[in-house]
Amino acid sequence: MAVGIFDSGLGGLTVFSAVEKKMPDQSFVYLGDNLNAPYGVRDASNVFDLTTKCIERLWDEGCDLVVLACNTASAAALKKIQEEWVPKNKRVLGVFVPLIESLTNRSWGDNSPPKEVKIQNVALFATPSTVASRAFQRELAYRAIGVDVESQACGGLVDAIEDGDLILADALVRSHVEALKRKMPNPQAAILGCTHYPLLENIFKEALGPSVEVFSQANLVAASLSDYLLRHPEMVGEIKAKNVFITTGDPVIVSARATQFLKRPVKFKPA
Ligand code: DGL
Repeated sequence: MAVGIFDSGLGGLTVFSAVEKKMPDQSFVYLGDNLNAPYGVRDASNVFDLTTKCIERLWDEGCDLVVLACNTASAAALKKIQEEWVPKNKRVLGVFVPLIESLTNRSWGDNSPPKEVKIQNVALFATPSTVASRAFQRELAYRAIGVDVESQACGGLVDAIEDGDLILADALVRSHVEALKRKMPNPQAAILGCTHYPLLENIFKEALGPSVEVFSQANLVAASLSDYLLRHPEMVGEIKAKNVFITTGDPVIVSARATQFLKRPVKFKPA
């Protein structure tokens, strides 16, 4: 048994990198649904169907705990997965809550009533489906009061990253930041609400300027997962086995792109 990490494509490797660094003895199985990426332009029921199929594939690999390292899947499908679909002996976690806990200065799993927090103007950059779901605002409202969130649906950005077109990706980031600033001129914090975006974190930071705190989701998810596994040792499974990478896409192309992103050789096998 290992911990499953799921993403629609390559973006979840930013989360994989952070969790691997934080928990070097833990085994992980990474599954990228590259064949069906991007998810960010699909409707919620389609995202639910694709995500649950991939979670079942990770169960076949022996992963009783699966982390949806994909904001779109977490935003559009996780609530329904947790409430109606996942069996009692399995767990599926998402990437939104750790981020919001950090933004609102809460410790992991603190379910006390919503409080006033220091940060009042938050810019959210995410895929069109994540923005449409309003899941970020919903989870934030459970934990904080008086926070104004302005979202920017970053159309085209995931495709540019998946295609390795970093010149287009750079231009898109700058134009999406400009568009956000027209709606909210002085955000105090920015959330990169898509696992692909940390690959362009420096460009976001440059375009946003030094006064905006950019929250790095990958490290927060790693810290939260490590804490979760301490509290749920039955989910740890086999340790120190080799990590496995699976894709629904073309393993040769996906391995080459992943190697480029992680800056070390990564070999994907077919799903
Ligand atoms: N990487 C995913 C996310 O975090 C989705 C990208 C996509 O497939 O559109 O939202």
